[in-house]
Amino acid sequence: MNYWQRRFKREILLSPGKHCLLQGHTGAGKTNLLMWVVDGFFKLREELPSNEWETLVWFDRGKSSEILQLCKLGPVRVLIPEGCDLEINTFGPEDLDIEKEYFSNPSQIWHLLDRDRINVICLQRFLIDPQAFPPVVSKLFKSLILDSFNYKIHPENCPPSLLLPRITLIIDEINNIAPSKGQGSGSREESSAGAWIQQNVEQLRSQKIRLVGSTHGWRKLRPGVRSSFPSHIALPGAYYPSSEKPKLARFNRLFETLETGQCCLIFEKDVFSDPFKVPYLGRGEDLGFILYHGQMKKKKQPQQKKPSYETLLQALAQLAQQPQAEPFKN
Ligand SMILES: Nc1ncnc2c1ncn2[C@@H]1O[C@H](COP(=O)(O)OP(=O)(O)O)[C@@H](O)[C@H]1O
Ligand SMILES: [Mg+2]
Repeated sequence: MNYWQRRFKREILLSPGKHCLLQGHTGAGKTNLLMWVVDGFFKLREELPSNEWETLVWFDRGKSSEILQLCKLGPVRVLIPEGCDLEINTFGPEDLDIEKEYFSNPSQIWHLLDRDRINVICLQRFLIDPQAFPPVVSKLFKSLILDSFNYKIHPENCPPSLLLPRITLIIDEINNIAPSKGQGSGSREESSAGAWIQQNVEQLRSQKIRLVGSTHGWRKLRPGVRSSFPSHIALPGAYYPSSEKPKLARFNRLFETLETGQCCLIFEKDVFSDPFKVPYLGRGEDLGFILYHGQMKKKKQPQQKKPSYETLLQALAQLAQQPQAEPFKN
């Protein structure tokens, strides 16, 4: 481990609630780097007392059978909406440690976590309808924020006396959850998920809940969210606008020329490391494939009845019968 990696361990991995944002173009190695971070957290357990272990939560996007790759790093618990299911198929005689839990409401997810497993939230693939995804994520983050502020989140295997268990949410393509204006589907609920995160990101940090997210473009992510990450990782193609990150913007050319899997670790005050290559951890697709069965449906809003012409007339008649107020006299 070189100086920068030791610093990454000390200032980021060992610092509860420290948010971190990865940036790089498609194919730069973002998903692999997130896996490397998961691996790093698991390895750290050997040297930490158990009350300092992070509970890891991975947001599954239903791509490239990532869950199978995660199984190589540690035991997995998948969280699936009721009425939907996952079918896991492997190419070899792999003995995978995958446990399934089902939830009827996204707000239950935070009460189904296990500190000793990689908790994989499977939502996106069950919410293909663009109208259905935003309200569910919005609900999910709202309940995370409210429950954590009320000290109600206690993952399994955490000592009950531990008031603030450390939690890391790993969100690949976090711009899908908190897109900037014009990048998402534009629904009200969608901006609300991003707004909940933006408004509470600092408070989440003090509740020891952190976001480790990735995006393939700085401007794809909601401005108030992208500005709240104190640490970053630049992968090939990372681009920082000079209006928001003047110091890093001077090195956009360097970030552009990084090789696949190479990155610069960026600490507070935008001090950054020499480029180095993270180990390649392989692809889930080479281990097998996952089938997702079922779809979560958008809940129908009860239709509000329009008042009829007669009801309006009745209301006006009632108003007319009410005694008039006395004119004001000196
Ligand atoms: N550290 C690495 N070393 C070598 N090759 C890598 C590394 N990281 C990624 N790759 C290669 O790049 C491909 C894309 O990686 P991925 O993590 O999926 O990128 P992204 O998520 O940015 O699109 C991988 O399938 C692999 O072939
Ligand atoms: Mg990726």
